[in-house]
Amino acid sequence: MTDHGAAGQALSAELEALTAELSAPAATIAAALGTAAPHDTARIAAAGREVTRIGHKVHDFSARLTRARAAAAATAAEDRTDGRAVLPPAWYQLGTRADGLRLALNRWPRIRAAVDEALPGRPRPLFPPRRRGVDPWAGRDAVGDALFGTLHQVLGAPAQDADAEAHGCFADIGLPHSLFMLNAHAAYRVWLALRRKGGADFLDVGCGGGLKVLSAAGFFARCTGLEYDPGYAAAAGDLLRRAGTGNCRILNGDALTYDNYDRYDVVYLYRPMRHEAALHALERRIVSQVRPGTILIAPYKGFAQRQGGEGCQPLGGALYVAGYTGAEARRLRRQAEFTGGAVVHSTRGVADVFTPVEAALHANGFDIADTVGALDA
Ligand SMILES: C[S@@+](CC[C@H](N)C(=O)[O-])C[C@H]1O[C@@H](n2cnc3c(N)ncnc32)[C@H](O)[C@@H]1O
Repeated sequence: MTDHGAAGQALSAELEALTAELSAPAATIAAALGTAAPHDTARIAAAGREVTRIGHKVHDFSARLTRARAAAAATAAEDRTDGRAVLPPAWYQLGTRADGLRLALNRWPRIRAAVDEALPGRPRPLFPPRRRGVDPWAGRDAVGDALFGTLHQVLGAPAQDADAEAHGCFADIGLPHSLFMLNAHAAYRVWLALRRKGGADFLDVGCGGGLKVLSAAGFFARCTGLEYDPGYAAAAGDLLRRAGTGNCRILNGDALTYDNYDRYDVVYLYRPMRHEAALHALERRIVSQVRPGTILIAPYKGFAQRQGGEGCQPLGGALYVAGYTGAEARRLRRQAEFTGGAVVHSTRGVADVFTPVEAALHANGFDIADTVGALDA
């Protein structure tokens, strides 16, 4: 028991009870956001009202704490010959705990705004709708894509290895970066909709100089590039080392004999092989080995016709899901459309009663910071 008198002890116990009381609706909101959309809006709204009600109690508690502390300080001053108000440390500890709860409650309006954003009723398409006529954003993408082309050269792309060429490999001709980002972001949202734990494993089959592996690292927990050409594989490894990303690796090997496709959650391939027969064999190998629910990104002609249908369903753009029926894939896509677009991998700052809500928001693709601009506007 802390040593700050009966009044302080009673307030300390009350603060503990208030913290537990506030944790309950926070846990309810986090749990409701943790299930598949549509979320239980009524339950979340009721828990939100509960937070507001407890917030008033915390406000009242803070005022009483301030008064009790002032009274304790006055008594302490009377007891000393020098008249200084020196309180027992327990009062300061109580003050720090109360400040923590108040700071958490200060976050509540922003958290509530983000929760309101996350509630269903507004599906957001995985891919922007096709526009008639001139796309006003095409110029921005073209400049970004040209920049990545330049970076690829500046990073010292080696010439294709003769053996790799004889093997039927394409040279390292990258998919336009904007197209990759569009599909990788949509794949991330599908991954969130799958509601798996632990972060996704991404594989680039034929990763060339590794720029897509590095780009994927922003979305997925662990990223691997598989590359046949030893010069490209070395350049990709060097790039990742220099970038300092701890979650990426390069494997120098042949995708036609690689046996571990079932270890990945997202598999990307951009026309690795020149010869149609080898490319088709590679596609078949991947599709037959991956686990059901694996997201495939295959942005080139022919993949949909060859691998689509039974066992590999389209999700829009260049995305496919393996091992699902058409109805399951449509449901998954719908779920993914209820996720937001935010990519956040960990909660920020000191943990408090609302940290589980924040984590649940992130797992749905929403971020507290996302809504700040809207509130301030
Ligand atoms: C068209 S590039 C794509 C590069 C990168 N994935 C991108 O999208 O920017 C194809 C890459 O696949 C590699 N490749 C082709 N066949 C392969 C195989 N059987 N095993 C591993 N890599 C292969 C090539 O060496 C080349 O780097």
